[in-house]
Amino acid sequence: MGYFEAMQQSTKKRYRLAILPGDGIGPEVMEAALRVMERVGEAEGIAFEFEEYRIGGAAIDAYGEPLRDADLDRMRACDAALMAAIGGTRWDRGPAHLRPEAGLLKIRKGLGVFANLRPAKIFRELVGASRLKPEVASRVDLIVFRELTGGLYFGEPRGRTGAPPAREALNTMRYGESEVRRIAEMAFRAARLRRRRVTSVDKANVLEVSQLWREIVVETHRSFSDVELTHLYVDNAAMQLVRDPGQFDVILTENLFGDILSDLCAELVGSIGLMPSASLGAANPGLFEPVHGSAPDIAGKGLANPLAMILTAAMMFRHGLSLPRSAGWIESAVESALEGGARTTDLGGRMSTQEMTACVLKHLEGSVAKSHV
Ligand code: NAD
Ligand code: IPM
Ligand code: MN
Repeated sequence: MGYFEAMQQSTKKRYRLAILPGDGIGPEVMEAALRVMERVGEAEGIAFEFEEYRIGGAAIDAYGEPLRDADLDRMRACDAALMAAIGGTRWDRGPAHLRPEAGLLKIRKGLGVFANLRPAKIFRELVGASRLKPEVASRVDLIVFRELTGGLYFGEPRGRTGAPPAREALNTMRYGESEVRRIAEMAFRAARLRRRRVTSVDKANVLEVSQLWREIVVETHRSFSDVELTHLYVDNAAMQLVRDPGQFDVILTENLFGDILSDLCAELVGSIGLMPSASLGAANPGLFEPVHGSAPDIAGKGLANPLAMILTAAMMFRHGLSLPRSAGWIESAVESALEGGARTTDLGGRMSTQEMTACVLKHLEGSVAKSHV
């Protein structure tokens, strides 16, 4: 399982998939992805067994905790896990371990998916939807390799102490060298399949953790001398991404910096409603999740753009199930839908979630037919 092995089409005919709709717009966009996956399965002669699990607020409401151990164990026996989004203000007041976000961190850690791949490539027909000038926007084609199971999100000690007026809170940013090396290797290997440029993003002018990060990235690079390596401080990286995103190919960075920069990348391509991701590890099934959250402001209104979720299913086909042909069908159906002018409100259009999904399904027929002639 991974970024590299998946180029050959698998001949397996049955897949068990863990489906995690989550909260807010999660179930709405998951519904869209399931319809697309069902059609692809039919065209490929593949049977998908969908096992649905609660996570986040939905699991807190049903079981009093954001992800049950037993559910995580069952997911380990699946071929891949597909998650939509979690979270919502209703659950925001609880202690950290009883918030929806804790379920997401638990599944990432539990499946050992240390590398989160967040591609940002602009669709030609959406150059006008980007905030950038067309000549700048048209060059956006990068992928963020975000470390996903370390750093501030997981470092110990953490917590709160004291009482007013002396309340304190503590989080710890910690990385061990093996954690840095394994994601750096993955990023360099991915760069070899792209434009052979890696930009490692850190804050080595201030943080010891970043100094170690940089040291290990430089050491790892010795086995990848055909790849160009540069380093940027994260503040400058944010600026450069807006100024000249075309200079980036693979961005390699730690957990929190990757979280922040990938939302920035969403605006480069036009909307967070377009951003898919794949979370991969060494063993266990991969976890596939769009970059966006549960969008409480638009939940239940039929306004969510389902394309990030649909493109996430495509990433699952390519990187999780070794079904690159199926992934290609989905990606070209999305591209054709956009070429035909399909736009949800986040892209300045008027289509609902359901209308966009129907449009992708219509174009999927074209993709499938083309590959059967
Ligand atoms: P968000 O990504 O949910 O929303 C940010 C903005 O983008 C909102 O205006 C929203 O309407 C819009 N948006 C997001 N997805 C969209 C889509 N598919 N189509 C159209 N517009 C879309 O981030 P937030 O508002 O900061 O967080 C809301 C909740 O989601 C929080 O509880 C947060 O913790 C959670 N969250 C979860 C995940 C995840 O499950 N992976 C990711 C990010 C945030
Ligand atoms: C993301 C989200 C999560 C993160 C939150 C909800 C824990 O923002 O997937 O980008 O910070 O990783
Ligand atoms: Mn985020």
